[in-house]
Amino acid sequence: MTRGALALLIHGGTDNWSPERWKARFDQVCHDRRVLQLPQASFNPADVHYAAVWKPVPGELAAFPNLKVIFNLGAGVDALMADKTLPSVPLVRVAVDDLTNRMMEYVVLHVLMHHRQEPYLRESQRNGRWAPKYQWPASAICVGIMGIGTLGARAAHVLQQIGFRVVGWSRSRKQVEGIECFAGGEQFDAFLRRTDILVCLLPLTADTRGILNRDVFGKLNRASPLGAPVLINAGRGGLQNEADILASLDGTLGGVSLDVFSREPVPADSPFWTHPKVVLTPHNAADTDPGAISRYVAEQIARFEAGGALENVVDRARGY
Ligand code: NAP
Ligand code: GLV
Repeated sequence: MTRGALALLIHGGTDNWSPERWKARFDQVCHDRRVLQLPQASFNPADVHYAAVWKPVPGELAAFPNLKVIFNLGAGVDALMADKTLPSVPLVRVAVDDLTNRMMEYVVLHVLMHHRQEPYLRESQRNGRWAPKYQWPASAICVGIMGIGTLGARAAHVLQQIGFRVVGWSRSRKQVEGIECFAGGEQFDAFLRRTDILVCLLPLTADTRGILNRDVFGKLNRASPLGAPVLINAGRGGLQNEADILASLDGTLGGVSLDVFSREPVPADSPFWTHPKVVLTPHNAADTDPGAISRYVAEQIARFEAGGALENVVDRARGY
């Protein structure tokens, strides 16, 4: 029997999204299946049963009449959800330990960086200034995680082990040992009031777009031991109102770490590059590893073809 082909549609533009690198990994794990790196001259679109994609051009996936499953090669599916022609087959997103642990590292690094006042200490060093500041214990600080899902839950667990107080906010109610969990719009303000360091790991959906705004920053713990609350966003740029962030750095926020932006790459003249209270990273908080993720996709296809259920299927109505 000829197995349906897997089409790779990758438009990333960075090293990690080199289509050749992904093709080599998929060839290793899908040895009994044709892996097509598109655009490719000679293939029949009807032979394609699976697509593994990162930011495909809207309309590109509609060209395959026998498509059975779409695998998004990252955790966030907002780019795909914006494609009105997306075929109505199951859409699977990434949820693997490799990516979850990378994001945990990013979150822990940036929480500790702000908690231990590293931006202030580095500036003191640059200015040759010996100016110690009181360092609070982790237990004095409450980290609030917006989006206590796959990524948020792992980061919350490790932060809690370090000694931080951790609160979480999600759409549906959660029970996570040692973490005070809040849910829905009605508990959002109570969650914010507790929070000294706000970590955003929400997906970008119609409900969450622009949620990181001045009104929300003003509700964070005004009596924070850090002097002013801090924002860390590694979800998506569309979650944040960037003008509000810059305006809030007047003291409403004490500092921010941003991995994601409304325009990526961030334009050369953006104030985010040089603002002393901004720590900028180029959307690489949690890279997707072609080895780990091609294995994840190949295992899902094998299970699906054996009659088993797909895992981490996106709920199209919720948008994540
Ligand atoms: P996930 O497992 O689906 O978790 C999403 C969490 O957000 C869930 O707890 C969900 O609540 C909550 N949520 C969604 N909509 C909400 C709303 N309207 N109000 C309150 N809570 C809401 O997703 P994940 O795997 O943790 O990934 C999260 C996001 O991280 C991705 O969508 C992507 O944008 C981003 N990401 C960024 C990078 C990077 O390198 N910067 C890498 C990977 C992922 P429920 O639990 O109730 O559903
Ligand atoms: C990266 O941004 C992802 O969604 O995995």
